[in-house]
Amino acid sequence: MNKWKPNRTEFYESAVSMGFYGREDSGLTGKKDNVRKFWEDVFMKLVTRPFIENRPYDDKKLRILDLGSGSGEGFELLTHIPPSNPSKGITKDFVLKNSDIELYRGIDISPAMISQGKANYSDYGNVSFEYGNLEDGLPREVTKDKPYDLYFSTYGSLSHLHPDSMERLMEQIFKHSNNGSVVLFDTHGKYSPAWPKYWGEEKILLPYTMAYLVPGEKRQQEDIEWFDLCYWDPEDLKKLLNKAAQQAGVNINILYMLDRSIFISRHMDTGLLSTKPMQLRYQVSRLLDHGYRGEVAHLKVDLEHLDAYKGINPKVWNRLTDYSHKWNKIIYLLEALMNSEDKKVKDFIENTNIELMGDDLKFITWLYRNADRFPVVDFWASLIGPQVAVILRNIEMSYSEGVGCGHGLICALEVIK
Ligand SMILES: C[S@@+](CC[C@H](N)C(=O)[O-])C[C@H]1O[C@@H](n2cnc3c(N)ncnc32)[C@H](O)[C@@H]1O
Repeated sequence: MNKWKPNRTEFYESAVSMGFYGREDSGLTGKKDNVRKFWEDVFMKLVTRPFIENRPYDDKKLRILDLGSGSGEGFELLTHIPPSNPSKGITKDFVLKNSDIELYRGIDISPAMISQGKANYSDYGNVSFEYGNLEDGLPREVTKDKPYDLYFSTYGSLSHLHPDSMERLMEQIFKHSNNGSVVLFDTHGKYSPAWPKYWGEEKILLPYTMAYLVPGEKRQQEDIEWFDLCYWDPEDLKKLLNKAAQQAGVNINILYMLDRSIFISRHMDTGLLSTKPMQLRYQVSRLLDHGYRGEVAHLKVDLEHLDAYKGINPKVWNRLTDYSHKWNKIIYLLEALMNSEDKKVKDFIENTNIELMGDDLKFITWLYRNADRFPVVDFWASLIGPQVAVILRNIEMSYSEGVGCGHGLICALEVIK
């Protein structure tokens, strides 16, 4: 059995030294691939936006605490959220500007992350990065300081914590916060199809690796570093939050829990925690890229290898099968459109009663039929591919109850005092 080694930072030290935490362009692979930028970040932005757009006092500057902030990805994300109604103010690109922020304070255990964050935002007087080990709770300087409007944490930083430490941290946050403060974070979901072997696990902390940052051909088993994380079941997380609130003597309103990155988890592609790698994330990154077409043969979701696990959590299984059916329907249509010279496939498109098709299918068909109206170089790469990816993302976002089947389990709550 792997021994739980708390507070290890070396994975992040090497990730930073390899340049993965600098500001870089997106692409087909790597930390900031197209899926991170146009699917995962967009998901996070859309679920955060209501709290920023609907804040009670528009002129009050926000105080933000980012827990496990890395090198400031949270700041970048929060200051690049598009408005929900762009036509209302065409000159307003984002709902939160740097000048709307009184303080963005990033806390992280990794010295390399802190240095990189400081370097990334050296010109910003209202942005700070400080050392803190969240296993020990909030740093003293934070607890002595004023409350925050938003306690924020993204991309699994809080999964590093043992549940006991997570409970203490949440209790502290609830005590420290104001009435109306929002806590928005994500953890790793327990029932991702990328790690079925964990679905029935009783152990609290289980191995994880960031080996996906290394290109597949260079990824050797013996070089892979593993560390332990907590993978959360939404019900357990709710219990923990309610207990922490009770201990803090406050009420909380859990606004939502949502599953993010269900089939486009990085580990769907590596297959390191499953028996079957599927390059779905890579393929969706291709779809999102205006220079590449999707390769439909690799875009279909096949859950057959998970058959043995389906009895473990029927709610999860129903969600996965429902999403996979919807996903595959879109991919079948894409395939049909791409092969439209084939008489049989053409018949399928031409003879399908468009009125009876779902809106998304209708829209893709319309786009295909109107292809020649668009002045782009490669219609498939620039128009159809990105739209198909957005539809796949929107299906994921349409589920309003998280069951823990995403790589990420997002939770937002409001503190009531
Ligand atoms: C996957 S990264 C996420 C970074 C950033 N939030 C983002 O959105 O990209 C996880 C971060 O959590 C930090 N971390 C891990 N354990 C921690 C702990 N006990 N206390 C504080 N930070 C921790 C790591 O150093 C790392 O920067």
